[in-house]
Amino acid sequence: MSRADNAAIRRLAISQPIVQGPFGGGMSTALLAATVSNLGGLGSYGAHNLAPDAIGRVTADIRAQTSQPFAMNLWVSDHDPGGEELDAAAFERAWRVLAPYYRELGVEKPEPPTQFHPPFAAQLEALLEARPPVFSFVFGIPPAAALAVCRQRGIVTIGAATSVAEAQALESAGVDMIVATGAEAGGHRPSFLGRAEDLLCGTFPLVQIVAARVRVPVIAAGGIVDARGVRAALELGAQAAQIGTAFLACAESAAADLHRAALFSERAQRTLLTRSFTGRLARGIRNRWTDEVDPRIAELPPFPITGWFVSQLRPAALAAGRDDLVSLWSGQGAPNLRHRTAAQLMQSIVSEL
Ligand SMILES: Cc1cc2nc3c(=O)[nH]c(=O)nc-3n(C[C@H](O)[C@H](O)[C@H](O)COP(=O)(O)O)c2cc1C
Repeated sequence: MSRADNAAIRRLAISQPIVQGPFGGGMSTALLAATVSNLGGLGSYGAHNLAPDAIGRVTADIRAQTSQPFAMNLWVSDHDPGGEELDAAAFERAWRVLAPYYRELGVEKPEPPTQFHPPFAAQLEALLEARPPVFSFVFGIPPAAALAVCRQRGIVTIGAATSVAEAQALESAGVDMIVATGAEAGGHRPSFLGRAEDLLCGTFPLVQIVAARVRVPVIAAGGIVDARGVRAALELGAQAAQIGTAFLACAESAAADLHRAALFSERAQRTLLTRSFTGRLARGIRNRWTDEVDPRIAELPPFPITGWFVSQLRPAALAAGRDDLVSLWSGQGAPNLRHRTAAQLMQSIVSEL
């Protein structure tokens, strides 16, 4: 079987074994997803922080730029235990940790919103209504009724696993494909059966372990930035590779310029897993924020409330060029990045494959 022909490629109706990883946090763009899809891969859009009514608009925007398949992506669980509400005592406890940064950036003490994260159920309804060719998701398994609607409407489903147990749970639920996400990967650990800190298998072993134990196609994610990485993933039993950081670094993403600069700098050799930006464990480049806030994580509220507190600071930090106080999400492969546009990255992988 050639590299460009396997069950995942046929099911996704793509011509290259390449998935552009979705980016939440406002870092996806319709242009990036469409560029990748137009070049034979599967472009993706991370919609987890979009209001439900925006999901249809973004899906239409991508459709306007490509006739090829693409994925819309959501986070199945929209809060961790204790992350639904913020009482006055928890607010003040967090404020004691965060007030110095608000002061440093000249940002007022915030008023808690009525809702810290758009509800997944409403986002899911909007996504099913928009009928993207592919629905990918992390942090759990959507309700059986929603997966049934996907099957009826011909929407291919892709879930993420960080362990065999998670992969088998996804397969048992009838999910079409599984992204085996190794600990090298940039962004959040998508674990949902156990603490993320306990589920840190690397991409190479995870892909082999999972591919040997499920029948559905496995997509490898974590640390892959070029054709050599894609080839290695295919050799180990994956049918495609999901590439995040290397696409995030490209001009078509909505990453901030200072974030992109950090990805191409020597600093990218020092990534770490941190809960300090959102309350959930995620990989990014070490900076002053992770150094100072990680040790005080017990004083901060669970996801998504810590994420809300930190997001209030982001515009001011970016405007001031402060890469010491914003998340610089990155996988461990960033020091191997070579390409500045998604078209160049895709073309180089496709030609070397
Ligand atoms: C900034 C950033 C945001 C991400 N957001 C999401 C997301 O919302 N949903 C998702 O399924 N994966 C998300 N990911 C994971 C990527 O889609 C991909 O699986 C991962 O980056 C692969 O590892 P790599 O960065 O080493 O290539 C994100 C990754 C990054 C770097």
